[in-house]
Amino acid sequence: MQGLTILKHKMTMLVMKLATKILNSPRPDMFVGPDSSLLLCDFIGAKPYKSILLVTDKGLYELGLFESVKKRLESHNLKVTVYHEISPNPTDKQIGVGVKKALEVGADAILAFGGGSAIDAAKVIAAGMKNGKTAAQMVGLFKVGKDPAPVFAIPTTAGTGSEVTPAAVITIPEEQRKCSVGDLKLIPKAAALDANLMLGLPPSITAATGLDVLTHAIEAYVSTLTTEEIRERCEYAVSAVFKHLPVAYQDGGNQDARTAMSLASYQAGISIAEAAVGYVHAFAHKLGGKYGIPHGLANAVILPHVLRFSKDKIEKDLARLAQIIGKPANADAFIKAIEELNDQLDIPKHFEDLKLSDFDEIFAAAQEEAMSLFPVPKYMNEQQGKELLSKLVNV
Ligand SMILES: NC(=O)c1ccc[n+]([C@@H]2O[C@H](COP(=O)([O-])OP(=O)(O)OC[C@H]3O[C@@H](n4cnc5c(N)ncnc54)[C@H](O)[C@@H]3O)[C@@H](O)[C@H]2O)c1
Ligand SMILES: [Fe+2]
Repeated sequence: MQGLTILKHKMTMLVMKLATKILNSPRPDMFVGPDSSLLLCDFIGAKPYKSILLVTDKGLYELGLFESVKKRLESHNLKVTVYHEISPNPTDKQIGVGVKKALEVGADAILAFGGGSAIDAAKVIAAGMKNGKTAAQMVGLFKVGKDPAPVFAIPTTAGTGSEVTPAAVITIPEEQRKCSVGDLKLIPKAAALDANLMLGLPPSITAATGLDVLTHAIEAYVSTLTTEEIRERCEYAVSAVFKHLPVAYQDGGNQDARTAMSLASYQAGISIAEAAVGYVHAFAHKLGGKYGIPHGLANAVILPHVLRFSKDKIEKDLARLAQIIGKPANADAFIKAIEELNDQLDIPKHFEDLKLSDFDEIFAAAQEEAMSLFPVPKYMNEQQGKELLSKLVNV
């Protein structure tokens, strides 16, 4: 890879490191435990708001999972308007319609109800309402402008950690890509981790979203921006995923496993808020934007390959994580444990849609994202990137 690109990347990472030191990342007020979403509604109800836009996705709208939350908000004399046109991998258009709706109903706060897709969309809607910018115009770092409308979040997956991160990932379908809006102003004001809302999450989504948590914890652990405090949070999250995700997958109604996973998701979310993610996410974003592959699933399939590629630079870190999950202190043992976890959760080894003829485009997008935003421990050149992609093709 060009020396100039690496130099530019190192400078950007230095600026990010200084920014995280100088600008204290705000943390949302948290409500935790079964039915904590109702306590969050009481917290919102005690504020001088009149009109709330509840942002959720189509699937959750059909399930009606938000009804108890809506009723509780209404019991505080709040007008609640539900906007449910959000899809997995939310698009700039869906966000634009949400901004219009929020302005029409005079919303003075936004409640995000759903997985990362609904929460990310809600964050960008709140920013769009106050800034008159489209989602695409806010892509990048610190492009939001004025403070967004206040956002409150109820994650229904565990998950992206979006309830605590300064990021929102949006999809621009015409360009077949996903990109991030990154700004501390996007961090929600308060959030509830309510296991009761996750009991019906289907096993395949439980697995994919849980492996997103694992990927966050590992990528933040080996990030060049990591700190001792972040590493502790990541170790906690890695250990929790190995212990509780197989239980939540087998027995979705297990409240304790759901609560444990939502806490792991939150801790991993704080970690990526400060140390960011890496190549796994860079490839996953392009694969999500191009083929619509669910985010957590894409991460799960790619994760062992990126770790093997980076192994010589992060050998000690991976050995430590192996110990944390009760394996011999050895990097290969940790990567193997991830592959075994993937097998246990029925994660495929390949992507059916991935084709050799798309490699140039996929690698270019992943490299651009990684080099502009992610503090990766080891750089990849084009040949190494394509070798990695070739392992993901079903031949
Ligand atoms: N902002 C961040 O920091 C951040 C971090 C990682 C990923 N992301 C983004 O988040 C998005 C992925 O979010 P996700 O993985 O949470 O999935 P998602 O929000 O796309 O939801 C996936 C599916 O699960 C369904 N679902 C959600 N909760 C449910 C429940 N309790 N019961 C039944 N069905 C339920 C939804 O209807 C949807 O069909 C991607 O766009 C990804 O890029 C954001
Ligand atoms: Fe993620």
